[in-house]
Amino acid sequence: MRAHAHVDERNFSAFLNVLLFLSLSLSPLDSELKTDSVCVVLLFPSSQALGPLRLFQASLLFSTIAVAVAIEYYQPEQIHLAYGDSPNDIVVTWTTYSNCDSVVEYGVGGFALKAEGSTTKFVDGGSEKRVMFIHRVTLKDLIPDAKYSMCNSGYHCGSVLGWSGVFWFKTPPDDESKWSPFLAVYGDMGNENAQSLARLQEEVQRGVYDAIIHVGDFAYDMDSDNARVGDEFMRQIETVAAYLPYMTCPGNHEQTYNFSNYRARFSMPGDTEGLWYSFNMGPIHFVSLTTEVYYNFNYGMKQLVKQYYWLENDLKEASIPENRLKRPWIITYGHRPMYCSNDDYDDCRQHSTFVRSGIPFLKWFGLEDLLYRYGVDLSIWAHEHSYERLWPVYDYKVLNGSTSEPYRNPRATVHIVTGSAGCSERTDPFIPAKPDWSAYRNSDYGYTRIKAWNGTHLYLEQISDDQDGQVIDNIWIIKDKHEAFSTKDNIDSPPLNWT
Ligand SMILES: [Fe+2]
Repeated sequence: MRAHAHVDERNFSAFLNVLLFLSLSLSPLDSELKTDSVCVVLLFPSSQALGPLRLFQASLLFSTIAVAVAIEYYQPEQIHLAYGDSPNDIVVTWTTYSNCDSVVEYGVGGFALKAEGSTTKFVDGGSEKRVMFIHRVTLKDLIPDAKYSMCNSGYHCGSVLGWSGVFWFKTPPDDESKWSPFLAVYGDMGNENAQSLARLQEEVQRGVYDAIIHVGDFAYDMDSDNARVGDEFMRQIETVAAYLPYMTCPGNHEQTYNFSNYRARFSMPGDTEGLWYSFNMGPIHFVSLTTEVYYNFNYGMKQLVKQYYWLENDLKEASIPENRLKRPWIITYGHRPMYCSNDDYDDCRQHSTFVRSGIPFLKWFGLEDLLYRYGVDLSIWAHEHSYERLWPVYDYKVLNGSTSEPYRNPRATVHIVTGSAGCSERTDPFIPAKPDWSAYRNSDYGYTRIKAWNGTHLYLEQISDDQDGQVIDNIWIIKDKHEAFSTKDNIDSPPLNWT
């Protein structure tokens, strides 16, 4: 930006004040201190021209003034929600670039309540070592079946140094057995080419969904350009994630710097920084997994082992008869699928997928046996940029409920792969010959909707963005009873004393 001015010695001081004003008022918003944001050309009258020394002094003074102009970033951005450790808790997370307090004012009928939380400094691992401050506040013991909404104040976050705009969210009903939660589920959505985002924004802001699950691979990538891509992606999803719990798991695109951008930016239940955890929604027990522990041995194997035994305990607990009666549906999600038929060389094309069969050679810690043993009803995956629905399958054997009604009382876990929400890598085609275990395939951009109507009926449908929101696939999974698929005890297990 250029400004022109005529000055003489008599009003030289006034002129410098003008320069200071310009430097303050015209600097663009950015996360760094700007010293070159205002370029001033001095045009002196020849008869009253300032000497070279005076001009040098002026430029020195202006440089000093410009360097001293630091920008503070107290304004909250990238606001998103997640379920806390109980269904009645909501965690609000946001970012600032200057250090400040973490406060949420909220309520039904006014900002009657105030909650304070933590501020964590996060330093990105890129060359610039960019610093941001992640704010987390848990809203506890929320009123059931309420809409903390804009007309009744909703919530805003920030501190006395700056508040966000006002957002709203809904809470589950008190009697969760009467709740039929409705979710949008997808993986692999990036900053560029986020095909599904606009439709999701419209639906979320109309209050269609209760939650969203993003099954790994965000932004492409959150750490790119010294984490600026992550910042912009988080701003993009604020338009949905500030209004409902946005539940996540990590994918391969999060692995840089040991998943630090993922772990810092999201706030999932439990104590693993969102690597694995479970939570409940009405009749569903959701389990979130990281498949990346099977593929990133450069970070060690400890996490793989810990997750495996945690998962077994979690499924065992969820399978206790009184728990399974209350939450009959067990649904897992993780990024890399056990099965896929895409035309690429990803691990899911191999027979002994690491996630399915376990670590190479030893075949320990494979997850398919756990899903089978504890009767996991549905497993959701992504990573392949397409949609694929499988028949109920275990160890490559199709175990349909019956020929006429394959998904009524299926005899194995149902898998779907839904990784086509849109990213810079576009979509993935399929191999021409559809395998026996694959029921339906489509490479349109889109996402999946899931609704658990009750303890016996679960509905899934796939939305195509290429076809303007058309439903291109749908099934009902109907189960009279939720239990282990088999009582056979010859499933291979890792040794219990593995350390
Ligand atoms: Fe991926």
